[in-house]
Amino acid sequence: MNLEAVMKKEAALLLPTYDRYQVLLRKGKGVYVYDASGRKYLDFLSGIGVNALGYGHPAITKVMARQAELLVHSSNLFFHEYQGELAERLTRLSGMDRAFFCNSGTEAWECALKLARAYARSRRSNGTKPAWRVLAMENSFHGRTFGSLATTGQAKYRDPFMPLMPGVEFVRYNDVDDLRKKFDSSVCAIGLEVVQGEGGIRFMDKQFLQAARSLANKHRALLVIDEIQSGLGRTGKMFAYQHYGISPDIVTIAKPLAAGLPLGAVLTREAVSRSFHPGMHGTTFGGGPLACAVAIAFLQTLEREKLVDHAGKMGNYLREQLQQLQKRQPAITDVRVLGLMVGVELNSGELAKAAVKKMMERGVIINRTHETVLRFLPPYVIGKAHVNEVIEKLDLVLEEQGQTHTKAHAGARRSVAN
Ligand SMILES: Cc1ncc(COP(=O)(O)O)c(C=O)c1O
Repeated sequence: MNLEAVMKKEAALLLPTYDRYQVLLRKGKGVYVYDASGRKYLDFLSGIGVNALGYGHPAITKVMARQAELLVHSSNLFFHEYQGELAERLTRLSGMDRAFFCNSGTEAWECALKLARAYARSRRSNGTKPAWRVLAMENSFHGRTFGSLATTGQAKYRDPFMPLMPGVEFVRYNDVDDLRKKFDSSVCAIGLEVVQGEGGIRFMDKQFLQAARSLANKHRALLVIDEIQSGLGRTGKMFAYQHYGISPDIVTIAKPLAAGLPLGAVLTREAVSRSFHPGMHGTTFGGGPLACAVAIAFLQTLEREKLVDHAGKMGNYLREQLQQLQKRQPAITDVRVLGLMVGVELNSGELAKAAVKKMMERGVIINRTHETVLRFLPPYVIGKAHVNEVIEKLDLVLEEQGQTHTKAHAGARRSVAN
């Protein structure tokens, strides 16, 4: 089927939830993905932060094929070999004690919210009301199911579905005074991203995260960190909170965990985990043998190929190149980089929209988030040549859009293009 036929069928039959790019993808290899006509794209988005090893990594395809032959699904009524091993690896990497497996980011966040409420209930004194309020951040994104939506601090996602879960209050990102004002012992959890992804690649201040940690300790609330986009090596450390030297009580992960298969996880401390008992939470598909076996292979590959370090180094190179580009292209108002979590802020939403389209026409996939921010979430396996290609094309695209053009800058541009 060609693109037109696929579009026609989807338009007639699917819920209108997506505004897709008019590209029909068919296969991928390494850092490239190919459309139905054989056109090649350098993928600097990785399926929104999922394909961290690129496409068709042999370590992944081998395990997928082997496990697909053996056992794809078993339900959580039975044991299989891989949940325990995966939990062992993830708890060691995160400093947590126990894991729960689910199917997606939003499911992981839902589980974290339930766990926080259950923990508050389990530690209340006789007859007192358990702590139940949840503090979340303005501009955050935690997913689209009701609890996740209730803690997502962006009106455009929430408003069509009101009323949402009660008890959530939003704190201004990085505003310690606002945080102190809203924190008391009725709070059971504070949930946050240390790098806001959908919110435009924004970093939490160290001081704010430290304040969140100490207020949570003081009020016996849980610090819940959403590492669904930032976790598992993307920022140059296994978890973004490891850049800050603090330790959370609950961590959620998903996106790259099973190299493209749906898998999410909640990691937590022993004391918190004890507030769950059989029957309080569960899933039919979550943590199945295929997804878990692949996730183990994903973590082994990160380690064997030293990809977390590599992501950090590539991020530094990308930052340098983007900062150079910013000098030539004043339409770039800010460059925000932590490892391979990258935001390039432009001076208009229209320009950002056009830039994504034009980059795609030149064979590079990026996307736009928060109106004005170009977001790059490339696979960890990129090299400098890929970065150079993206910079060169972005330079041309911004130039074409007529944002800047002086003779003085033209020479500098040529030297980078070379
Ligand atoms: C930080 C964060 N949390 C939660 C989610 C929701 O994950 P999913 O789309 O897998 O439900 C996302 C997805 O983009 C995310 O970036």
